[in-house]
Amino acid sequence: MLRLVVLISGGGSNLRALLEASRDAEFPARVVAIGADRDADGLAHAEEFGIPSFVVPFGAFPDRAAWGEELLAQLDQWDADLVILSGFMRLLPPATVRALGPTVLNTHPAYLPEFPGAHAVRDALRAGAEQTGASVILVDDGVDTGPVLAQERVPIHPGDSEGAVHDRIKLVERRLLVDVVLAIANGELDLAAVARAPRPETPAPTPGEDPA
Ligand code: GAR
Repeated sequence: MLRLVVLISGGGSNLRALLEASRDAEFPARVVAIGADRDADGLAHAEEFGIPSFVVPFGAFPDRAAWGEELLAQLDQWDADLVILSGFMRLLPPATVRALGPTVLNTHPAYLPEFPGAHAVRDALRAGAEQTGASVILVDDGVDTGPVLAQERVPIHPGDSEGAVHDRIKLVERRLLVDVVLAIANGELDLAAVARAPRPETPAPTPGEDPA
């Protein structure tokens, strides 16, 4: 049985989907703790499902490194096989990523490497994209640059609001996240091997091409 710790910053609807999936006795993973960087609304799911939670408020620390050390100390108590960033809107400091090793997953509401960062859905709409996507990645110390473990395209329809697109993406994210957790639990996906594998180079722009 895989032990999961899920970190959130917001409403935690994807967390909730994971909690519901793990109600099934056959599901090979359990959420053992839920953490947040603020007093997130989604912590209510922890209470409802009777799961311990912790908050490491970013603003209470002098810098990101000190915050990351405390977050790591909290995570260490739970002996997690996987740490899942599910709407966790803070970048982990490199030392924290290194200490956790290839165990940290992140869901992202875009078809990475398209639209990385904190406003992926808004950025896709502003770019006039006709499709975006959902991705689950292994976290490295960049901003949404880790190896992609699963991803799927999601259409954008004319006149869609940001909320409508994001809701459509979240349905896909939830399914991908559950599938990735299952694949890891079944031994079909080896995160250490993914982390070791050579990464494809970003193609250099051809001469005369505008790199933007
Ligand atoms: C999800 O779409 C997740 O991928 C995104 O925040 C949303 C959280 O929703 N994460 C990022 O944008 C990280 N860059 P939720 O709180 O309702 O689960």
